[in-house]
Amino acid sequence: MNSPNSNHQRKGVILSPSLLSANFADLASSVRLAEEGGADWIHIDVMDGHFVPNLTVGPIIVEALRPLTKLTLDVHLMIERPDDYIPQFVTAGADIITVHYEACVHLNRTVAHIKSLGVKAGVALNPATPLGMLEEILPDVDLVLLMSVNPGFGGQAFLPSLFRRARTLREWIENSPSFSRDAEHSPSFSRRGLGGGYPLIEADGGIKLDNAAQVYQAGVDAIVSGSGVFDTPNPAETLRQMRRACEATKLIEV
Ligand code: DX5
Ligand code: ZN
Repeated sequence: MNSPNSNHQRKGVILSPSLLSANFADLASSVRLAEEGGADWIHIDVMDGHFVPNLTVGPIIVEALRPLTKLTLDVHLMIERPDDYIPQFVTAGADIITVHYEACVHLNRTVAHIKSLGVKAGVALNPATPLGMLEEILPDVDLVLLMSVNPGFGGQAFLPSLFRRARTLREWIENSPSFSRDAEHSPSFSRRGLGGGYPLIEADGGIKLDNAAQVYQAGVDAIVSGSGVFDTPNPAETLRQMRRACEATKLIEV
């Protein structure tokens, strides 16, 4: 059996700065800063005022950003009835669409819907949702997004339960016969970090330069950071430092 500690196959941290803390009057500049800092993905937080108590952006913003960058657009839907909007986000140029477990009555259908439109499908879990809720859907998803705050706002305090949750999930994935380790290296997907056959773990909320390495060390592949990047004096340099900090670590013992 593969030990969770034996995962030396990770290709390095994936950084997904969240535009939620960017300058909304000049998102193009924020995307440029993210690129300059070596971001892998751009995280776009979509909120509907129902699933979470805040409103943000819709497909029109994704469409406006798409021509500005070749980076993977990582769209996090914090909305009810996501199926009604998934096709619009795909048409707008999303590469990954993540829906919340808590917002989907028919999660299997929603994940299949996303994949049928040719993009990667993620499932997000709120901090209080047991990991076990992933058991049936895990083999079908490209990504699991573990929230390390209650979704709705940037700049909240990191919930340390993320460490335990990420380590446990990583162990499940690595020890599950459902996932072929070789598939991770399949050349069939060109976008970095989405190798197929092996769901990525993403963490979102309260992650900054001072805890990013610990999050990565717990088995997280993709790190979302909003205020931790865009509320710093030099976002591009912060991203570079975040990558260096993560890549100086090794996976911790489970
Ligand atoms: C929160 C959003 C996050 C948010 C994170 O509900 O899903 O993506 O931008 O912001 P920080 O990194 O500031 O906690
Ligand atoms: Zn998010």
